Amino acid sequence: MDSKNKQQNDQKKSTKSNGNSKSQSNQTKSTSSTKKQKQARFGEEHEGKLLEFFVEEVKDIYFAEHEALKALKKMEKAATSKALKDSIVQHHGETEEQIKRLEQVFELLGEKPSKKKCEGILGIIKDGESVIEDTDDNTMVRDAAIIIASQKIEHYEITSYGSLAELARTLGKDDLAELLEVTLEEEKQTDVTLTILAEESINEDASNE
Ligand SMILES: [Fe+2]
Repeated sequence: MDSKNKQQNDQKKSTKSNGNSKSQSNQTKSTSSTKKQKQARFGEEHEGKLLEFFVEEVKDIYFAEHEALKALKKMEKAATSKALKDSIVQHHGETEEQIKRLEQVFELLGEKPSKKKCEGILGIIKDGESVIEDTDDNTMVRDAAIIIASQKIEHYEITSYGSLAELARTLGKDDLAELLEVTLEEEKQTDVTLTILAEESINEDASNE
């Protein structure tokens, strides 16, 4: 029930009790306060479950960032063009900062940083590795494959951070939401940078090989 409806409902209850005798009114009052207590407990329980789910999802993205870091190292080695290598190196540095930011999130939650294995990100990374293996060394087709693999990882992260920031706001944890939104913007920017790189040079060069 939203607060406006709850207010209207409470007003209705109070109007009803005013029309009754004093003892009936007291009875209604106590029934109503028991009901309110029950509702509050129900709300807390549900918020508790949502918070529990939120923490699990933070562990998931914490795992994903560490896996992405390993994947970025492999991609940097495999990349052909300097422009792509530079962009990967930059994102590697950002990812290290993003991991530290998640550690701040854990601290604010009063939790120790821990990882939850996520098959989703492992699948995306494995898929990317096999695409890279299927392309030849020192080719722009290899670079085009790396960009696609990186963007798949980015989109997983954008979805995770976007959803987590929203959940943090719902839970009234604006400080956490702000931290998550800083990373969300970085991930979106990386995605744009990779698209520009593909559109402006790499895809064209790959088509001429
Ligand atoms: Fe990231």
